[in-house]
Amino acid sequence: MQKVLDSNIRICCIGAGYVGGPSMVVIADKCPEILVNVVDINPDRIKNWNDEEYKEIPIFEPNLLPLLKRTRGKNLFFSTDVHQEISLADIIFICVNTPTKQIGVGAGRASNLQWLELCAREIATHAKGNTIVVEKSTVPVKTAEVIKDILITETINNISKEKKYFSVLSNPEFLSEGNAIKDLQDPDRILIGGDNINAIDKLSSIYEHWVPKDKIIKTNLWSSELSKLTANAFLAQRISSINSISALCEITGADIKEVSKAIGGDKRIGNKFISSGPGFGGSCFKKDLLNLTYLCEYYGLSEVALYWNQVLEINNWQQKRISKVVIEKLFRNISGKKIAIFGFAFKADTNDTRESPSINICMDLINEGAVLKIHDPKVKEIEIQKAFEDFLENNKELKNNKKLIDLRKVWNYYDSIYDASKNVDAILILTEWSNYKTISWEEIYKVMRKPAWVFDTRLVTNPDEVKKNGIKLWVLGQG
Ligand code: NAD
Ligand code: UGA
Repeated sequence: MQKVLDSNIRICCIGAGYVGGPSMVVIADKCPEILVNVVDINPDRIKNWNDEEYKEIPIFEPNLLPLLKRTRGKNLFFSTDVHQEISLADIIFICVNTPTKQIGVGAGRASNLQWLELCAREIATHAKGNTIVVEKSTVPVKTAEVIKDILITETINNISKEKKYFSVLSNPEFLSEGNAIKDLQDPDRILIGGDNINAIDKLSSIYEHWVPKDKIIKTNLWSSELSKLTANAFLAQRISSINSISALCEITGADIKEVSKAIGGDKRIGNKFISSGPGFGGSCFKKDLLNLTYLCEYYGLSEVALYWNQVLEINNWQQKRISKVVIEKLFRNISGKKIAIFGFAFKADTNDTRESPSINICMDLINEGAVLKIHDPKVKEIEIQKAFEDFLENNKELKNNKKLIDLRKVWNYYDSIYDASKNVDAILILTEWSNYKTISWEEIYKVMRKPAWVFDTRLVTNPDEVKKNGIKLWVLGQG
């Protein structure tokens, strides 16, 4: 593909994932005169972004495809030419993964910044002239200092005649998966942290193509970095708070939907982000909370660390208690029983399975001897198998369980809800996909083993519809 655009700003985005991909598609769409190049070290991901038929696009997001179709090959390009695109860029967005560290100091809690550091080193070596480096990945507060150090060292040591100048900005991303395009096109706010006003204004001018100026918040670097971690911690805290109350509802006869509505009616609390479910998943809440608690301890704030850690504890507890309820209702024995799982993605409208509550819950059920029949409209069979294998890799004590040795014998993948339901004792709804809201329970009941159970952890079923067909129903927060 030829780059023929006569652009005065050239962007390079490092990382073609759930953030880099959609956010650059939106920038390219809103700013036709800007040339946007997305690069990644993963050749398969780039190949899929360039798929001519648009069938293998690696990320599923509602409304992503039409935007991609009108920008790709015009002012938006995907490639593996990391060095070349860095050298040509005026603005470089770092959108690489920052997962939880698995080994070494801070293992299991601190962020692994190896990919981010690699980016900084690549930028230090290959950038030319004036370059604005934008940290979009979620990072612990003070990370920009690391990036600056690496860039400054290169500036000092640079033996070539050409001078290099860098400005580092923090511009965290607040999109939520499944709503990425909507969130990017109409954000609540844009946050830009930095100490170089010209660089801040230049980045701001890109967003000003479509975001009103009063929604663009300019801060210092550390406020910006810390605000992102804190925003996720506050959101996660809401989910754990409402989930803790779901259990109390089941015992007392209160109804979690009614309670959510009643407390959400207070404007100070608000009616958003207050739906009870099987626990929060996704690639960020857990890792960012772990990172926040690690940072608090590092700075000697152990009580603060304990406070935020409890949000995570409640999340683990919520997932565990769901598998316990299923086992309890199926006569405390699920050995050899077939159970259908509806939904494997961590939420609806995404194909992402990272930290999905489905993984832990399925593994608990398999560990108890159940055979699972899994359906998800967008997650591929291979992704589910990979999620289970990764789980076993991280939970080595389970690896010797005979039932788990040949994983492929204890679960199967189904394209059809109907086929997945055949001969099962129970259906467990774990993701709120819209097609689970309109299931014909009469047809499903006919093919299930009796007594037939439905466990709805997302409150998507109509209880009267399900029960009138003879199915026994358990709903999270309702009993
Ligand atoms: P992702 O794993 O989907 O994508 C990251 C990409 O970066 C991968 O394709 C990887 O191959 C690539 N990469 C890593 N190192 C590279 C290098 N040195 N050069 C080129 N490419 C490289 O991750 P994501 O979900 O897009 O998240 C990225 C960052 O954004 C994380 O810090 C995350 O916390 C943050 N974030 C994510 C979301 C979300 O909803 N997923 C929202 C806001 C912020
Ligand atoms: C979250 C934040 O919402 C984004 O603002 C942030 O940018 C992003 O993390 C990030 O940093 O990665 P995301 O994880 O994509 O976005 O999805 P959410 O909509 O926040 O859902 C997270 C989890 O909470 C899901 O498992 C979802 O099912 C659960 N949830 C959400 C509930 O159980 N109830 C709710 O009311 C809302």
